[in-house]
Amino acid sequence: MRIILSRSTKEAIDTVSTIMVDRISSRPNMTLGLATGKTMEPVYEDFIAKAREQSLKMDKNFFFMLDEYVGIEEDHPSSFKSYILKRLIKPLDLHESQFAFPPTKLDGDHYETLIKEGGGIDLQLLGIGVNGHIGFNEPGSSINSRTRIVNLTDATKKSNQEHFGSEAMPNQALSMGIGSIMDGKELVMLATGKSKADAIKYLFNHHDDESCPATFLKSHPHFSLFLDPESASKISLKI
Ligand code: GLP
Repeated sequence: MRIILSRSTKEAIDTVSTIMVDRISSRPNMTLGLATGKTMEPVYEDFIAKAREQSLKMDKNFFFMLDEYVGIEEDHPSSFKSYILKRLIKPLDLHESQFAFPPTKLDGDHYETLIKEGGGIDLQLLGIGVNGHIGFNEPGSSINSRTRIVNLTDATKKSNQEHFGSEAMPNQALSMGIGSIMDGKELVMLATGKSKADAIKYLFNHHDDESCPATFLKSHPHFSLFLDPESASKISLKI
């Protein structure tokens, strides 16, 4: 694992969006795995600004979404499909056909086949949940897990409830598994803010621990963890 501690949240975001631009510029037909969540919002904003500035060509790229809620329609304002339409597809004038969305009405094998047929994922972006989840691989997920329906934990529901207002949060999601994520050629995780400090401390100090699924990623040969000062505030790292 490579850990990159930035001097500020802005710098961490800039570093991750620069990696996206660099990888796409050097391999215009590469595939990207995309995460959602608040952490990624400024990354996508920054990426859009850079892509426009550099007239980045993206017509040959293909994108795989990491997960999706089960039990809401895909055009629900809080679905991850709506998230990425609003934050990446529309602003960059990309085509929906360049994106694969976890098919919540089918089983996970369909998505695994799609990823395989698409040549796998070259760069997988990841956030981390307050309980150490990746995608929606909640504590207890196995390192070999593949795309499947998962039950969301109370901690995750509490943290994501804000996206649903007074409406009840879905109890389930379809998520790429840890095994599916580990198949990605390069994994880039970003953690920002104080709320992630405990998960990052746990990740830093443990390996292959099902109670914090992110620890499995440490055995991936190309896993980079980008931190801002707040998310790194409970570990001893110096710039
Ligand atoms: C979400 C997504 C993850 C994301 C994580 C953290 O619900 N399933 O892909 O990384 O939980 O979200 P946030 O960045 O909002 O803290």
